[in-house]
Amino acid sequence: MAAPKTTIWELEPHSRAKHEILRRYLQAWVVILGQGGFREFAYIDGFAGPGRYSKGEDGSPIIALKVALEHQTRIDSGISFLFVENRPDRAEVLQEILDETDRPNRYSVRVAKGSKFDDEARKFLDEISSKSKNPPPIFAFIDPFGWSGVSFKIVQRIMGFPSCEVLVTFMYEEINRFIGHPEQEDNFDEFFGTTEWRDAITIQGPAQRNRFLHDLYGRQLRESAKVRYVRSFQMRNDRDVTDYYLFYGTNSLLGLKKMKEAMWRLDASGEFRFSDATDPQQLVLFSKEPQYDLLKDLVIKRFQGLETTVAVVEEFVVTETPFRETHYKTQVLKPLELSNPPGLLVVNSPAGRRPGTYSDRNLRLRIL
Ligand SMILES: C[S@@+](CC[C@H](N)C(=O)[O-])C[C@H]1O[C@@H](n2cnc3c(N)ncnc32)[C@H](O)[C@@H]1O
Repeated sequence: MAAPKTTIWELEPHSRAKHEILRRYLQAWVVILGQGGFREFAYIDGFAGPGRYSKGEDGSPIIALKVALEHQTRIDSGISFLFVENRPDRAEVLQEILDETDRPNRYSVRVAKGSKFDDEARKFLDEISSKSKNPPPIFAFIDPFGWSGVSFKIVQRIMGFPSCEVLVTFMYEEINRFIGHPEQEDNFDEFFGTTEWRDAITIQGPAQRNRFLHDLYGRQLRESAKVRYVRSFQMRNDRDVTDYYLFYGTNSLLGLKKMKEAMWRLDASGEFRFSDATDPQQLVLFSKEPQYDLLKDLVIKRFQGLETTVAVVEEFVVTETPFRETHYKTQVLKPLELSNPPGLLVVNSPAGRRPGTYSDRNLRLRIL
């Protein structure tokens, strides 16, 4: 899809899906941070848009603000919203909507009109680091039409602060289309934070190229930005083509759990399909009924012949598979333990424990 030229444009199904994820995740995030003893935390929407779509639907800045308003009684901290929009006409519309929205004094909202994300983020980070030794946690939503204006250095810098998170739209279709264009070289260097993307130019197979570029960005987040948990989600459109990836980076296990919860609760429609795409071997589609057989295979493959604990299995499920902490007990461990012959033995089962129950995280398990 070419980037729209008008001030306001039509909301496409793929953006609706992204908004749904953002909304669901932020519903958890604002409450966790709002009750986490922080005086203040910050929400940056680096490519904010006009805040409204052509049929009146909310844009991402309004979605974030509304979530914070809906949960204001559960939020003790102040929130500082920074919305950056480089097109003055779009920023103006956004400002008008914000001016009509009542909010508590402890929520500060600023639209950086006609400014660029990189510049504003740099200023913001300089300011918070000079003001305090304990900078506020930040969630940065980075949602460009393409790739220019998103320097990896900024992402890296945000993730260098404690308790910060990023959600980046990786516009695969656009990136792939322009990857060999010489005039885009500097922009791609900046976006990827490395020159390695050039190797993609000679990769002929579309699937291989797709995977290469996706993996490169994920690796950059993990290795160069030192992000502990990186997960990526693939949006396929109704033609079954990769539209974009969302890269989520966090150093918080709780954040990771909440993002997965947001993903698994998404109602996939015929118009789009969202999958966890972190591992090419595990492209798992989010659906009402998770593929428990796949999770079972993954658990067996990882732990077969070993003695482990419920807590370790859970950590594996959450951090190394697309599945959730709610998916492995009754649908994986229980059938393994109760099958005949059993596929799992509880080594230190206390007297009176009901087989198939794993509330004690220290239970020692042997996967047979
Ligand atoms: C994909 S749209 C954002 C949509 C919005 N996040 C939403 O979900 O409702 C990208 C927006 O970024 C703006 N933009 C483009 N380059 C920018 C830059 N370097 N800094 C800030 N905004 C930019 C565009 O004018 C456009 O409104």
